[in-house]
Amino acid sequence: MNFLELAQTRRSLRTYQDKPVEKEKLEYVLECARLAPSWKNMQCWRFIVVNDAAGRAAMAESMGESNPGRKALTSAPIVIVLCAVPKESEVWEGKDNMMLDAGLAMEHLILAATEQGLGTCWQGLFTEEKVRTALNIPEDVRVVAMTPLGYAAEERRPRPRKAMSEIAFHGKWGQA
Ligand SMILES: Cc1cc2nc3c(=O)[nH]c(=O)nc-3n(C[C@H](O)[C@H](O)[C@H](O)COP(=O)(O)O)c2cc1C
Repeated sequence: MNFLELAQTRRSLRTYQDKPVEKEKLEYVLECARLAPSWKNMQCWRFIVVNDAAGRAAMAESMGESNPGRKALTSAPIVIVLCAVPKESEVWEGKDNMMLDAGLAMEHLILAATEQGLGTCWQGLFTEEKVRTALNIPEDVRVVAMTPLGYAAEERRPRPRKAMSEIAFHGKWGQA
C-alpha cells in the first residue's frame, strides 16, 4: 500500500469484532508512534494501553452519551489513551506545540494501525477528569485523545473533504 492508498484507507471506525489484536501489531503501532517528530525532540507524548473491560467501559463512560464513538470504546479489544506532558513541549507565539506533537504521534499510530489492517477512531469528546481518575494519570499531565484499536466490524466509508482549490494555494494566500 503506498501512502495515498493508506490515507484513503484510514477511516474513523466505530464498531469492532470480538477478536484480539496480536501483541506484535500492538508493539508495531506503538513503535511507529515513538518515532514521530516533536518540538525540540522533547517527545511529550505518553500512551496508555487499556485492554481490560472495566478500563474500556470507564473510557466509554467518560464520553457524552450522544458521542458516536462511545460504543467503539467498549466493542474494541483495546483503547489507546494519548497523554501529553506540558513541560516536555512549549507554547511558541501562542501556538501549543504540545497538542501538535501529541497529535503527530497519534496519527503515526493510527496510520500504522491502518497499514496493519486494524481500525481506529480519534476520540476527543470526553471528560478529562473522568479519564484521569480511572487511569491514575497525574494532575500535571493532559489527556489529549484516545482511540479504539481492533478489527473493524463495519465497512470503511469515505467522508467528504474540501476541494484541493480550497486548501492549497500557490505562491500567495488565495492564489490558485
Ligand atoms: C481531534 C479529533 C477528535 C475527534 N473526536 C471524535 C469523537 O469524540 N467521536 C467521534 O466519533 N469521532 C471523533 N473524531 C473523528 C472525526 O469525526 C472524523 O475524523 C471525521 O468525521 C472524518 O472522518 P474520517 O476520519 O472517517 O475520515 C475526531 C477526530 C479528530 C481528528
